[in-house]
Amino acid sequence: MTPELEDLFSFLRFPSVSTDSRNAGDVRDCAGWLIGKLQRMGLTAELHETPKHPVVIAKNAHRPDRKTVLIYGHYDVQPVDPLNLWTTPPFEPEIRHGRIWARGATDNKGQMLAHVLGVEKTLKEHGELPVNLIFLFEGEEEIGSPNLAAFLAEHKDDLICDVIAISDTGMVAPGMGTLGYGLRGIACCEVKLTGPERDLHSGLFGGAVANPATAVARLVASLHDADGRVLVDGFYDDVRPLEDWEREMWAKVPGVSDADFLKVTGSPGLFGEEGYTSAERTWARPTAEVNGIGGGYQGEGSKTVLPAEAFVKFSFRLVPDQDPADILAKVEKHLRAHCPPGVKIEVEIGHDGKPYVVDPHSKFGLAAQSALKMAFGTEPVLIREGGSIPIVQTFRDILGVDTLLLGLALADAQIHSPDENFPVENFEAGIRLNQALLTELAAV
Ligand code: BES
Ligand code: ZN
Repeated sequence: MTPELEDLFSFLRFPSVSTDSRNAGDVRDCAGWLIGKLQRMGLTAELHETPKHPVVIAKNAHRPDRKTVLIYGHYDVQPVDPLNLWTTPPFEPEIRHGRIWARGATDNKGQMLAHVLGVEKTLKEHGELPVNLIFLFEGEEEIGSPNLAAFLAEHKDDLICDVIAISDTGMVAPGMGTLGYGLRGIACCEVKLTGPERDLHSGLFGGAVANPATAVARLVASLHDADGRVLVDGFYDDVRPLEDWEREMWAKVPGVSDADFLKVTGSPGLFGEEGYTSAERTWARPTAEVNGIGGGYQGEGSKTVLPAEAFVKFSFRLVPDQDPADILAKVEKHLRAHCPPGVKIEVEIGHDGKPYVVDPHSKFGLAAQSALKMAFGTEPVLIREGGSIPIVQTFRDILGVDTLLLGLALADAQIHSPDENFPVENFEAGIRLNQALLTELAAV
């Protein structure tokens, strides 16, 4: 195995699941491993405490005559459940069919380490970097980066830079270098409906008291019309329409046709807002999603019970110029207004992140495009993204700097799902890409 793959395997073995407090020590150990790696490369690397998981900052020696590039990544990962659907254990990386299989292989450890190893290679080859570099790695991206905005505000003076680069997004097809110029935002909330003081016999009391599980279903149903449009009052007020040039450009992007969406999802059919392709629906239109729903008896066979409570977890994907706080206020109003009678409703507001869009033809955008061309040998494809990286718009708000999204995640990487994987060739291309990127950004 190459030393690069050995590093990646070591990195992947940390179960750095940010959402689970039982893994807090593993998240910290993973940050510690990174510090060691970055210091061995000759960078100054420091671990910064936050109220939860640490931030890692590393730098080379800065010179006033060079561009400053901030590279961001996250070393935390999503939970692994359902564990029984993994072919091999999620934190015991393995290579099969040219791909690395492990939680975090693509999202984001593989892509993040490609940044690190691209820098290491450049340092080895040239003794120094053509730019001033700041690495900023966090351990809380998968829980909405709750402490990073405060960290940025506090350390603003140490993070002054000209441009930010991130590999934590998608690539439309193998070998097709992809520049992302937009991300959807996100806003989460959870609803609990409470009925009788305990689970009841559904024969003795059913029909006489409201059933919280039925009420949850009605509440969920109130969110969309039959064609998939969101019915929350004012939900679409601030949605920026798609532009003609991007619709035309996206129509020619390989790997994202409706047929491709059907194939990669294994779904029996597509469904979404009328008048848009799947790519347009996911990259440029907002949604309301149920991420989890429950209540009542879940065991084998039937149990005639009228549950005492039921819940649903929602997330809303947002597009420019929707504001997460405004959307959550509108959603809460809708949920309270549509809550069926006879149950008590509690709405708990969760994390959020703003949507982002940037000009892909700016001077830094063009530099990123030529780096992609150098690494992949093909004309780069320009897309927006359906996923969210909450800190990206915050970088713009606090540091005043735009972000280049150089994605290496394939549609079938199974990020957030069992059997997450990352092609070895993407890892290697990512290392080349980062070497080229430093050169191209230095020349802007
Ligand atoms: N890397 C993903 C986001 C992503 C993946 C964007 C592929 C575009 C293409 C990121 O780690 C992620 O999953 N973000 C979460 C954020 C949330 C938990 C606040 C998301 O989008 O669900
Ligand atoms: Zn993720």
